[in-house]
Amino acid sequence: MVSYKELGLVNTREMFAKAIDGGYAIPAFNFNNMEQLQAIIKASAETKSPVILQVSKGARNYANQTLLRYMAQGAVEYAKELGWEHPQICLHLDHGDTFEVCKSCVDYGFSSVMIDGSSLPYEENIALTKKVVEYAHQFDVTVEAELGVLAGVEDDVVAEESHYTKPEEVIDFATRTGCDSLAISIGTSHGAYKFKPEQCTRDPQTGKLIPPPLAFDVLDAVMEKLPGFPIVLHGSSSVPQEYVDIINENGGKLPDAVGIPEEQLRKAAKSAVCKINIDSDSRLAFTAAVRKVFNEKPGEFDPRKYCGPARDEMTKLYKHKIIEVLGSDGKAE
Ligand code: G3H
Ligand code: 13P
Ligand code: ZN
Repeated sequence: MVSYKELGLVNTREMFAKAIDGGYAIPAFNFNNMEQLQAIIKASAETKSPVILQVSKGARNYANQTLLRYMAQGAVEYAKELGWEHPQICLHLDHGDTFEVCKSCVDYGFSSVMIDGSSLPYEENIALTKKVVEYAHQFDVTVEAELGVLAGVEDDVVAEESHYTKPEEVIDFATRTGCDSLAISIGTSHGAYKFKPEQCTRDPQTGKLIPPPLAFDVLDAVMEKLPGFPIVLHGSSSVPQEYVDIINENGGKLPDAVGIPEEQLRKAAKSAVCKINIDSDSRLAFTAAVRKVFNEKPGEFDPRKYCGPARDEMTKLYKHKIIEVLGSDGKAE
C-alpha cells in the first residue's frame, strides 16, 4: 500500500472547489509515455496550472502500472526542478471498469479514480460506484463516476450512439453513491471522429465539417439539480485541423476527423464543468510532428529526432489548452 500523499500528489477535491468558484476547468491529460508526461509537466509548470494525469486501462497495459506510478512520482520532482514550487498534480485512473482495478490503483498511489459504470443498468452503476467510493474514501482518494453514455470507443466498450445524461437521475445518483464528481454526456465523444458527416454542416469555403453544438440545456439542467457539484466532460478534444492537415499532407489518412469547437469548451469551463478530458489532440500533435520529420528527413532513425519535435508540439498544445481554453493558468502557484 502506497499513499499518494507520500508521492507528493493531490486528490481532486480542492482543485475542483476552486475551479468551480473561479470559473475555470482543470485539464485532464492522458499519458502513455515519457514524452507525453514531460510535455504535460512542462506546460503545467510553465503556466502554474493544476493538472490531472490520466491513466487509462490501455495505458496501464502499454506502459505498466508500476512504471507509470514511478513516472508520476518523478513528475512531481521534475515539476519542482522546473521551478514550480507547489505543484498540484493528481494521478487519476481513467475509465476504471471494475472495483478491483480501482482498488489496485488506490493501493498503488493514485490520488483519484474513475469508476465508469455508465454502460451498466442504473442500479448496478450505483452499487458499483458506491463500493468504489466506500473503499477509496478511506484513503482520501476522490472518485469520479459517470451517468449517460458517450458515443464512440472507450477502451473495450463501443457505443454507436450517445445517450445524454438524464438530469432527473443526478441527485439520486450523487447522493446514493457519494461520488466526488460526475461525468455527464452532452454530445462529446472519444476519439478524432466525434460526429458523422451527416450530423454536421460543411463550411462552403473550406469544405471542412462544422459540428453540431453540445447539449448545454442538459448541462444547465444538471447544474440546477446539483448546484456547485463538480461536473466532468470526457471526449473534449477539438481535433485541430492544422494537425489533421499536416498528417494528411505527410502520408496519413484522417478523412473528416472532427472535434469539439474550442469556444464551446471555453463556455463549459466557466460553468460547474471543472475537469475537461483531452487525449486525442495530444495523439494528433505527436503524430503530425513525427510524420513531418519522417517525410522531410527519410534518413532519420534516431527516435530523439522525431520524438523530440513531437514533445515540443505537445507542450505547445497543452499550454494552449491551459491558457486559451480552460483558463487554469496561474491557479497553482
Ligand atoms: O477514454 C479514452 C481515452 O482517450 C483513453 O484511450 O483507452 O486508448 O488509452 P485508450
Ligand atoms: P478525447 O478522445 O476527446 O481526447 O477524450 C479523452 C477522454 O475523454 C479520456 O477519458
Ligand atoms: Zn473518457
